[in-house]
Amino acid sequence: MKISSYEEYKEVYQKSVDDPEGFWAEVGQEFQWRKPWKRVLDWNFDEPNVKWFEGGKMNITENALDRHLEENANKPAIIWEPNDPSDEAVTLTYQVLYDRVCSLANVLKKYGIKKGDRVCIYLPMVPELAIAVLACARIGAIHSVVFGGFSAKSISDRINDAGCKMVITSDGAYRGPKVIPMKETVDHALESCPSVERVLVLTRTRTPVAMLKGRDLWWEDEVKYVEAKCPAEEMDSEDVLFILYTSGSTGKPKGVVHTCGGYMVYATYTFQNVFQYEPGEVHFCTADIGWITGHSYIVYGPLCSGATSLMFEGVPTYPDAGRLWDIVDKHKVNILYTAPTAIRSLMSFGLQYVKDHSLSSLKKLGSVGEPINEEAWHWFKENIGKGSCPIVDTWWQTENGGILISGLAGITPEKATYATLPLPGVQPVLVDENGNELEGTGVSGNLCIKFPWPGIIRTTYGDHERCKQTYFSTYPGKYFTGDGCLRDENGFYRITGRVDDVLNVSGHRIGTAEVENAINMHLGVVESAIVGFPHDIKGQGIYAFIITERKPAEPEMMRKDISATVAQIIGPIAKPDKIQFVSGLPKTRSGKIMRRILRKIAEGDVSNLGDTSTLLDPSVVDEIKAGAI
Ligand code: PRX
Repeated sequence: MKISSYEEYKEVYQKSVDDPEGFWAEVGQEFQWRKPWKRVLDWNFDEPNVKWFEGGKMNITENALDRHLEENANKPAIIWEPNDPSDEAVTLTYQVLYDRVCSLANVLKKYGIKKGDRVCIYLPMVPELAIAVLACARIGAIHSVVFGGFSAKSISDRINDAGCKMVITSDGAYRGPKVIPMKETVDHALESCPSVERVLVLTRTRTPVAMLKGRDLWWEDEVKYVEAKCPAEEMDSEDVLFILYTSGSTGKPKGVVHTCGGYMVYATYTFQNVFQYEPGEVHFCTADIGWITGHSYIVYGPLCSGATSLMFEGVPTYPDAGRLWDIVDKHKVNILYTAPTAIRSLMSFGLQYVKDHSLSSLKKLGSVGEPINEEAWHWFKENIGKGSCPIVDTWWQTENGGILISGLAGITPEKATYATLPLPGVQPVLVDENGNELEGTGVSGNLCIKFPWPGIIRTTYGDHERCKQTYFSTYPGKYFTGDGCLRDENGFYRITGRVDDVLNVSGHRIGTAEVENAINMHLGVVESAIVGFPHDIKGQGIYAFIITERKPAEPEMMRKDISATVAQIIGPIAKPDKIQFVSGLPKTRSGKIMRRILRKIAEGDVSNLGDTSTLLDPSVVDEIKAGAI
């Protein structure tokens, strides 16, 4: 189903509310099912228990690969642009991608991977990452992709939580001018991962790596001895497709579980409608497949649509800040989907990196991951879209499987900094702290969704209660997003940011508790508190207030050491931007840290700290204010 006018949008939206099952049945018909579903939807948000297309049998790779072979075998499925622009780009046609997915699927089978087994994938942005994801899906193994920037400790936590049997990695990774070890990091992780039986290693950088007999295997050797045909495993619509870990406000990251049928339908439907995909277009999503955006809009959504998806190995600033525009011109990109943090960073280098590029192939632009500020929106519109490309500001989350609130490119009206309208099938509501629905327009509150859509999270792996507590308990009967939001006089939605203790740093979701736990593991640290502060490029930066056993003799050195500990426990993306050593934290008499005060200080707004009389020791506030960075 592709909506092609604003009028049609309104009609279809209404239909999706009046008859959701009829609406989704129509969308679901567009896919290849081995056996039709018996029931479109069964749900309650209390347990929660959500089932879409129950009884339907399918395999997502038959939709992403096999069904394109008859007419489009030689059409490019993936165009891969390497880190170094002087290396050659690689195009994988649907036929080649199919062959390579089948070969790898046979390797996985040979080493005992079966339907339901978990496989951890820790790879750079090379075509083999997409191939590994699809090979798992082909045989019904559950993939858990871990972003290449995470540390050994983060990898082992994720492997152990899911009980992965295999890890797929590479010797190293290229990232801009750097070569980053991957296998070595996995080796460290595996010191504490008893479930892992095999490690499959791709050669990318030719970095020397240790290879253990009986455990480690070379990708290139293994794929030589298997067939390039592998029947797809028959999956139930509600069988698990993948797990993807994401941070919350408390404790360790959660394994968000998505299932086969609903996820396929939702990722594909949103891809086609939001970006108004036309056959033959080249779609470039700059995310990493280690995040949900890459899962849905590099791999599954585009491939299930028979589109050409561009994968980029490197970073937007290497060899210079014109790299994305080089890629757009070189590969005649039609749809560019990126993050506000990338736009702001490229903006800061100045227009000289844009001016020698034509960018005339671009037709549609997209933004994702964090609120986009007015300045970045207009810069993107004028300088990249040359004033004529529509921008879709797409709001959604790992737990959603696909975009929930967004314009449809060129079809629905746009408004800078507004995600605008819910997609047909999505029913957002704003609520106050007591859970009362806020009706009408010109209101702001907490954003909830009151009816399921096919891509909704099914559970958090191994801990269903946590899923219920996190998303379905704050406002009973509704899915709570954790975001604040306003609805303007036209009914357009604007996401204002997280209302919980989750930070959004360069579009990456980071839990404050996770960073605090990592800092507290550092020698000599007694306690810490993390808050976000506005950051010109990253959107939010990380500000750490830290109590140490003794006043640090060399504070600068200790800051660096603490950052190194955070990088080792979580990964470099969670390193604090600012560290202030303090002798106490503002706590209530019941021992709760008043983050509101710390946030104000971190923002540099100390004029009005509100009521501090309930603090156990109000004098710490003056000390913290005086030492603010
Ligand atoms: O706060 C919202 C913000 O990113 C969070 C979800 O993060 P994650 O699960 O990592 O997924 C990111 C990409 C889908 C949301 O709760 N967010 C995402 N997109 C937007 C956004 N905030 C404002 N505008 C957006 N377009």
